[in-house]
Amino acid sequence: MSTHRIAVMPGDGIGREVIAESMKVLRAAEKASGGAFTLETTEFPWNGDFYVKTGRMMPEDGIETLRGYDAILFGAVGDARVPEHISVAQTILAMRRGLDQWCNLRPARLLKGAPCPLKDKQPGQIDFVVVRENTEGEYADIGGNVFAGTSNEVAVQSAVFTRRGCERIIRYAFELARKRKKEGVGKGELISVSKHNAQRHGQVFWNRVYEEIREEYPDIRSRFLYVDAACMDMVRKPETFDVLVASNLFGDILTDLAGVVVGGLGIAPSGNLNPDRNGPSMFEPVHGSAPDIAGKGIANPFAAIMAGGMMLDFLGATAAAQAITRAVESVLGDPNAPKTPDFGGKARTSEVGDEIAARVGATVAKGA
Ligand code: NAD
Ligand code: IPM
Ligand code: MN
Repeated sequence: MSTHRIAVMPGDGIGREVIAESMKVLRAAEKASGGAFTLETTEFPWNGDFYVKTGRMMPEDGIETLRGYDAILFGAVGDARVPEHISVAQTILAMRRGLDQWCNLRPARLLKGAPCPLKDKQPGQIDFVVVRENTEGEYADIGGNVFAGTSNEVAVQSAVFTRRGCERIIRYAFELARKRKKEGVGKGELISVSKHNAQRHGQVFWNRVYEEIREEYPDIRSRFLYVDAACMDMVRKPETFDVLVASNLFGDILTDLAGVVVGGLGIAPSGNLNPDRNGPSMFEPVHGSAPDIAGKGIANPFAAIMAGGMMLDFLGATAAAQAITRAVESVLGDPNAPKTPDFGGKARTSEVGDEIAARVGATVAKGA
């Protein structure tokens, strides 16, 4: 039996509502696995309330505390009382950089029952993964202001592309394309997303590293797309996508779009992986704290539940992870099962969570 120590950070707004459901489903998977694995959880109340009380989103040694866990399950942050750049810098961005979670994996799969905004797209037709660089690029914390507060004010924000950073993420994406091809899921195709026509330093470098690494993978068909063209094709012909690799900001923007293409942010999970496993990885929905619906009990919990499934998979509880995927697919594809308003239903967040948990309990394989 393996014990996994999980740090749970629900955060703000609907983060709290959806993480409660994700935990419910994880507990159901744990129970149904018949003792094959145990989740030992610690909840951390690091959010807007914590900031109002202490002046910080998490204690100064927060990252060191989290380092002692096997994985982190995160909801979302975003609270009107906290400056936006502080709430994310002291939580999400601090974890990604501080715990070297350099690979942000964001799958987009059109499942039966999900409201696809594109016409004529069938379930199963859209199945791709965006591999987002997660520690540098446009999110590198480099810059400053001079002449602040005057009419002469200047702000500089620099993007940073390192050889190590570009090589490891592009190589990870090629490996993923190879794995998906072997499993019969993908087409064995990789698209490097860049903007090397306009950004002649960082993006030209990214593209050069991509050109070098593709030589190592003659079995994978690869090409580049400019980020603007990639947005267009994600709407026009997303069925042609398999694995995409992109820098931090391009990956961020592309994955809200990817989420919406397969049903909305309510069904877009994400794994912030430390593939070297020298620190915990963090799993979260792609969405934020959604102040417009927070507190109403109507947030869609699918994304947070699927993020919990990605966490189990990364921790090696593969059968339990697959059981969560099957339960999600079964509830989503069942016209009589509860759905939240964004999916055309009238159900509350907790009813969807209850139903998925019940179906996980019924299907999980012993020995997960
Ligand atoms: P958002 O993702 O919170 O919401 C965008 C829209 O999608 C809203 O209309 C919202 O109601 C809807 N939505 C999102 N998740 C949903 C769900 N599970 N079910 C149903 N509808 C859902 O993005 P935003 O409005 O741009 O940002 C709100 C706050 O969240 C900001 O403070 C922002 O900084 C923060 N944010 C945090 C994270 C994170 O913590 N990972 C991610 C994105 C945004
Ligand atoms: C995401 C979010 C974050 C990002 C924000 C909240 C900093 O939008 O995880 O996609 O830009 O990475
Ligand atoms: Mn985003």
